[in-house]
Amino acid sequence: MGAGEEGTATAEREIMPQPLLSAERLQTRIDELAAQVDRDYRGKTLLVVCILKGSYIFTADLTRRLTIPHEIDFMAVSSYEGGMESTGEVTVTKDLHHDVQDKHLLLVEDIIDTGNTVRFLIEELAERDPASIAVMSLLKKEGTEEESLPSLEYLGFTIPPVFVVGYGLDYAERYRHLPYVATLSGMPEVDET
Ligand code: IMP
Ligand code: MG
Repeated sequence: MGAGEEGTATAEREIMPQPLLSAERLQTRIDELAAQVDRDYRGKTLLVVCILKGSYIFTADLTRRLTIPHEIDFMAVSSYEGGMESTGEVTVTKDLHHDVQDKHLLLVEDIIDTGNTVRFLIEELAERDPASIAVMSLLKKEGTEEESLPSLEYLGFTIPPVFVVGYGLDYAERYRHLPYVATLSGMPEVDET
């Protein structure tokens, strides 16, 4: 047998996305979040910071709904290195293009799990003298301590502490394109050792 149909079918059967948040629910919530940002940042110099890669779709949908003037910039950090567990160590892999001094920063994240990424980013960007820093995350996993995330001003949904994909979020770079957020069933067991 060559690298044929059977192999492909097996791979697809093993990891099936199960919808958790429909495209409609996501879009309705993003309408509300954008309206909030419109109100809160009117008359201010707003710089929306998209945290790559996971929040590229969320940022695109959010910013297309904003009616106030704003700039967009991108920053990439890595902590998961393709796996499903945070390594705890965050590094900047792509920095902002803009100078953030005296600007109001809105960091847009896809999901908060341990909170390490967001805490690292706030610390890193605070040193550059912005006028303010706030965080918006589409998702937060239940159990993350809110008090350790003081700048989380905007949150889309709190979800159970399971691994999710879709709407920008990946598992080993797959599933980002799904218009909904899904869990993966039939996930291979991850050995601790
Ligand atoms: P934290 O630093 O533990 O809060 O993890 C945040 C980052 O890990 C997010 O920006 C995501 O890139 C990634 N991440 C956390 N949980 C998930 C998940 O369930 N699916 C996909 N990526 C995740
Ligand atoms: Mg991310």
